[in-house]
Amino acid sequence: MKILGIETSCDETSAAVVSDDGTIISNVIHSQIAQHAPYGGVVPEIASRSHIRHIDEVVRQAMEEAQMDYKDLDAVAVTSGPGLIGGVIVGLMMAKAIASAAKIPLIGINHLEGHALTARLTNDVPFPFLLLLVSGGHCQILEVANISDYKRLGSTLDDALGEAFDKTAKMLGLGYPGGPIVEKYAREGDENAYDLPRPLLNRKDCDFSFSGMKTGIYRLIEEKKSQNPEILKDKKFIADLCASFQKAAGDVVVSKMERAISLFKEHHPHADDIVVAGGVAANLYLRERLETLCAQHAMKLTAPPLKLCTDNAAMIAWAGIEHFKLGRQDDLSIQPRARWPLAKQPAIIYFPFNK
Ligand code: KG4
Ligand code: ZN
Repeated sequence: MKILGIETSCDETSAAVVSDDGTIISNVIHSQIAQHAPYGGVVPEIASRSHIRHIDEVVRQAMEEAQMDYKDLDAVAVTSGPGLIGGVIVGLMMAKAIASAAKIPLIGINHLEGHALTARLTNDVPFPFLLLLVSGGHCQILEVANISDYKRLGSTLDDALGEAFDKTAKMLGLGYPGGPIVEKYAREGDENAYDLPRPLLNRKDCDFSFSGMKTGIYRLIEEKKSQNPEILKDKKFIADLCASFQKAAGDVVVSKMERAISLFKEHHPHADDIVVAGGVAANLYLRERLETLCAQHAMKLTAPPLKLCTDNAAMIAWAGIEHFKLGRQDDLSIQPRARWPLAKQPAIIYFPFNK
């Protein structure tokens, strides 16, 4: 079985062909980072226009690299939400056109489910598993019992973790996206240099809040600036602050995951898999902290390869394969969704699987 995946929900235009044995036959990603970088974040209108401009070429290239014709595909899977609505519309229209012209099934995929299931594509992780989903727009801990069977144990009350990385980088004038840059500076810095707020650390739940951490960083920068207006040119200050932020974020994530592990174990005493997914899962410091936590609790951590952590269409194609194997497909009337909580997906209608 081979499925074409299409992803356009944020700032990557991507198309991929994936086979049900887990082979990524092609995975073309056109990044818009350079266009958004001057603004320090994704500008929705620029994103929509760029998706329109590049989608044809990206899909054509993915098909050419896979050396396939549209009618040889078993289905087309597409991110139908959640995300920036302009981009989601572009991808969905493209997928509908392909499904309609090639007369192949269409499967709408929740972008977050794409991230969630990547570890099954790359590492065959069995259900159930505990999932830490950390990206630019989302920060959640979920129990994944099966396809479409998600239970949310906690989520952020304000900013996502990736957003906190991006805003920290922006306040320090480091560019976009902030995650990889902050991580790079943090490697050279002293993580104990500044004691930043760790919001909700002692609250006995699995929820996060990062806006207080951001305010703490803002205040610290302002205070330092008042003493030295050139402080943002001081590489040591930048590195120390990045390292201190990363440590504070790591402390919060580890403590919330510790709580989540005990809840997960109550429901699934014999399960021992933890998956970290989403763009922030590319952060090696965070992975190390999670590795240590997993070792302490006799759990196994799976983190997808770096290239599959950030947005890509291979994960959408794979989620499509998982759904299609269960006999699910959508009709051409499916709608794009700006919001679509993973833990509350609508009931799925299963069709007989006859491919
Ligand atoms: O999953 P993703 O590509 O897009 C969304 O669905 O949001 O995640 C992008 C986010 C950005 O906030 C980016 O700064 C963050 O992931 N990110 C990282 C790293 N690489 C990407 N955050 C921390 N460390 C990294 N190495
Ligand atoms: Zn994403």
